[in-house]
Amino acid sequence: MKGRKRAAILISGRGSNMAALIEAARNPAYPVEIVAVISNRPGAPGLARAREAGIAAEAIDHKAFASRSDFEAALEARLEAHVVDLVVLAGFMRLMTAPFVQSWAGRMINIHPALLPAFPGLATHERALEAGVRLHGCTVHYVTPGMDEGPIIAQAAVPVLPGDTALDLAARVLHAEHKLYPIALARVARGEAPVMGERVEIAPGDLLFCE
Ligand code: GAR
Repeated sequence: MKGRKRAAILISGRGSNMAALIEAARNPAYPVEIVAVISNRPGAPGLARAREAGIAAEAIDHKAFASRSDFEAALEARLEAHVVDLVVLAGFMRLMTAPFVQSWAGRMINIHPALLPAFPGLATHERALEAGVRLHGCTVHYVTPGMDEGPIIAQAAVPVLPGDTALDLAARVLHAEHKLYPIALARVARGEAPVMGERVEIAPGDLLFCE
């Protein structure tokens, strides 16, 4: 496909969502090309996984920088070097400063393992079990300075089943993440998820029910 958007995926760990996105982008009709994978942790297993898939992968160790903005300046330089249109956070566990986030407004997305605005932050599956919800899931959203607060692009819901542990639930949600993220990224790349005020208008296919 002509005019594919160039995306960098930012990771911190195993990179299973990254792998799902790379797999989707192997189809030439997919509107996004993955041009780089960048981890803030040099030991992230996802880096090797990206290289095996033939994608340029590099680490920018946040610990080597005196401040958050120094780290982001190094990251920005690499994004510019790769001529990136879209930044895709996939298990990237580092908060970013408001100026960096604002400079990528509408061009940086994240996946969160809960049905936002429920359960922002960490330990989402444990908290879902504690709250006794019957439906849980994942959300793809634009990144804004407030953590896990940006306009929702797409969500996938999964059931909470009797006897579920947090690990059971995490696995069920992760499976849904792998389906949802490629769909949501494609919508963004095609310009089908514009932000109107604080929201993205709901369109067919924005909500998936998995399992
Ligand atoms: C995923 O479940 C993702 O939703 C979550 O981290 C996991 C990364 O797994 N992200 C966050 O919690 C962001 N706050 P992966 O590295 O295998 O894709």
